[in-house]
Amino acid sequence: MSFYLTTPIYYVNSTPHIGHAYTTIAADILVRHHRQRGEETYFLTGVDEHADKVARVAADEGLSPQEYVDRIVPDWRRLAPSVNAEPDYFIRTTDEGHKRFVQDFLQRIYDNGDIYQDVYAGLYCVGCEAFKTEEELVDGKCPDHGTEPEWLEEKNWFFRLSAFEERLLQLYDDRSDFVLPAFRANEARSFIAGGLRDFSISRATQTWGIPIPWDPDQVAYVWADALVNYLSALSYAPGAKLDLWPARHLLAKDILRFHCVYWPALLLSAGYEVPRQLFVHGYLNLDGRGISKSLGNVIRVEELTDVYGVDALRFWAARAVTFGQDADVTVEGFHERYERELGNDLGNLLSRTTALIARSGGSLDPSSPDAELAAAATALGDEVAALFDRYEITTALDRIWDHVRRLNRYVEQTKPWEIAREPERAGELAEVLYGLADGLRVVAVALAAYTPDTSERILTSLGQPVELAWENVAPGRTVAASGIAATEPLFPRVDAPAAAA
Ligand code: MSP
Repeated sequence: MSFYLTTPIYYVNSTPHIGHAYTTIAADILVRHHRQRGEETYFLTGVDEHADKVARVAADEGLSPQEYVDRIVPDWRRLAPSVNAEPDYFIRTTDEGHKRFVQDFLQRIYDNGDIYQDVYAGLYCVGCEAFKTEEELVDGKCPDHGTEPEWLEEKNWFFRLSAFEERLLQLYDDRSDFVLPAFRANEARSFIAGGLRDFSISRATQTWGIPIPWDPDQVAYVWADALVNYLSALSYAPGAKLDLWPARHLLAKDILRFHCVYWPALLLSAGYEVPRQLFVHGYLNLDGRGISKSLGNVIRVEELTDVYGVDALRFWAARAVTFGQDADVTVEGFHERYERELGNDLGNLLSRTTALIARSGGSLDPSSPDAELAAAATALGDEVAALFDRYEITTALDRIWDHVRRLNRYVEQTKPWEIAREPERAGELAEVLYGLADGLRVVAVALAAYTPDTSERILTSLGQPVELAWENVAPGRTVAASGIAATEPLFPRVDAPAAAA
């Protein structure tokens, strides 16, 4: 079975911040985990270029849209590597392969009779790239962007979304895990049940976009272009193939309707299978407010990774924000978790363990680990895998952290530094040290999807091969090793956040 996962393709009207990094990190954690389980994986991310708001920024900067996107896209291309995410392909909606596919996709819908011409007049929010009803506005402004929508009146091509109401409701009824978490499925379902309105898939007054094949004077509406990326990439990206479809999509709640309602309907109309699954996560709010350039509270990835390292950011993203929920986050909270959990719980455990092994001769001899620790390690592998199957990356990490704490308790209880003072208890000491090393190895493999570099360092410093296959999340697989030395701290102390920020 293949695991094909996508992130939203991000708008290039400004540069990336930790909100975008958050989705990319979560996706990479999921993909790496499934790779550890031996599944064939494909990971797609990229950028959404044909938005009206992109054309407007370009105009403000005195550039053609194409010149503008060509200048800013490298910043976006760096996003995934900057958080050690490894997408298989980075799609641009200006890729020729994508443009061709979109035209073919829209033509199929047209040929199937789901498109008609009409005049539409309404209030349009450029921030959302969507029409708004009066009821959706607060004091006449878009609640998400705080701006007044513009009046737009055009003769456009419309997609008969209303014709898909029954089929979509049936889909939600048949597949209870189509959209996760369940409360998001309910949200999508009630939106559908409330009655669907046809929407326009073309723009007559814009020129920045993909020409409509049967009416090249109009361009495709940005969402009718962007959503198709998830499928188009499979037709031309290196290493991809169309049978990876259907995909699993990761997105935040802001774009739920487009993904959970419009997209499956477009696919049904064009004759493709609907997505395999969609997971809708929450929003990160910084110091009580949304993260945006206009609010002036954007945190760039490097501000955190330069100080704390990439693994600390990845760990924090999964641990501090319950995946699926909104969360208020702070740089102080980040720092505190770094010190307490990464520095103390995990870092000190490795430092202590390697120092003890080094002092007792530097070698590890296989013996059977403590029965309780062994049972917990066996259970950990199964539990974490089951949680990952439900995208519960935070709860899965909680379980792994329980194991880290269990190992710390084991050190406190067995007091190996005392055993070491009594030469006649050498056998007992070897067993305790083996148990600790084995526990740390289990933790390293289990954590590898979250903190790949740290996991490698743990395994290497214990003289273990970097074998990340999921079956190694099991006790007793630590091999004999020698020459083990006390390690440098995994997560060195850094200045408090005031200095970091
Ligand atoms: N271009 C569209 C998506 C098209 S997909 C076919 C778009 N782009 S976006 O740049 O606005 O990205 C929105 C996505 O970025 C969210 O759905 C989420 O994945 C991520 N996030 C941006 N800010 C975020 C937070 N503050 N918190 C969590 N996720 C955030 O919408």
